[in-house]
Amino acid sequence: MESTNNLEKFQTIIDADTKIEPKDWMPEDYRKHLIRQISQHAHSEVIGMQPEGNWITRAPSLRAKLILLAKIQDEAGHGLYLYSACETLGISREELIDQLHTGKAKYSSIFNYAAITWADIGAIGWLVDGAAIVNQISLQRTSYGPYSRAMIRICKEESFHQRQGYEIMGKLALGTPEQKEMAQDALNRWWWPSLMMFGPHDSDSPHSGKAMTWRIKRESNDVLRQRFIDKTVQQAEVIGLKIPDDKLKWNEAKGVYEHGEINWEEFNQVINGNGPLNKIRLANHISAHENGAWVREAANAYAAKQKKEVLVA
Ligand code: 3HC
Repeated sequence: MESTNNLEKFQTIIDADTKIEPKDWMPEDYRKHLIRQISQHAHSEVIGMQPEGNWITRAPSLRAKLILLAKIQDEAGHGLYLYSACETLGISREELIDQLHTGKAKYSSIFNYAAITWADIGAIGWLVDGAAIVNQISLQRTSYGPYSRAMIRICKEESFHQRQGYEIMGKLALGTPEQKEMAQDALNRWWWPSLMMFGPHDSDSPHSGKAMTWRIKRESNDVLRQRFIDKTVQQAEVIGLKIPDDKLKWNEAKGVYEHGEINWEEFNQVINGNGPLNKIRLANHISAHENGAWVREAANAYAAKQKKEVLVA
């Protein structure tokens, strides 16, 4: 049982915007909340490599291939930063991967959709990384030190990810009629799933209350989603693409775009494992993890040998 005194002291530290570090006292629920969110964030980064990885051999130019390779390598690194931040909370990498493989831990719904044309790679960079940037800039101010520092590092690379995606979409949208049609088709398929990345409405979010009290989240799901919409609608207009929402309307008084309702039935299906590609994404990850076991064993054997030599020396 955590003493009231400890809990009050902890909240005073949070309210003073002081970072919580791994060795600080923290409520067990705070620690569990962070493990849940940071691990799912890490899983998202790694699973997110799959839709883009499928296009490395089909990139339309050497430049496009180089950019895509660099982005995918960045995502792997983001996953490793976040797994390392999560491990500071007292959970092992093996446990984290097991939670992913057994479905105990989620990853972002967006990565369960197929990237079927090159324009999808543009839409992923522009919309998915664009949404991730809005969320992650806010998370730079999260109360847990290792997570905050990982976000600061990751955000530096995300803007390159979003810009390269927007460049692909702009080139296609301003290209031949067939290219413009391909870009509009990708926008039509990725727009609504990108809005789902921000989570359910605040009123339907079981975790947001605690997340805001503990300053894990600094802004709510709906606030961040609206910020992404307001920014992205203008970007679509610049390249002559139409947002697939016939209820989209600028509200001058509020200074925001009003928009249609998300398909929450689809959202719930996808986050509960019944999306278009959930099973394939997870099977690919399990297979890659199993096929890579020998690398982990070799690295661990080498590390053990090094440690023994140091002890003997
Ligand atoms: N996909 C999958 N699950 C989602 C989800 C989504 N888009 N949105 C919400 N959920 C889940 C939550 O995990 C929670 O389920 P759980 O209890 O089993 O964990 C449930 O739905 C209720 O949602 P809440 O809003 O109450 O949950 P949170 O307070 O955790 O908020 C979140 C959800 C906004 C996604 C928050 O977890 C978050 O900010 N996570 C960190 C950011 C992140 O994960 N981004 C994913 C993309 S990473 C990426 O895009 C890489 C880029 O480089 C391409």
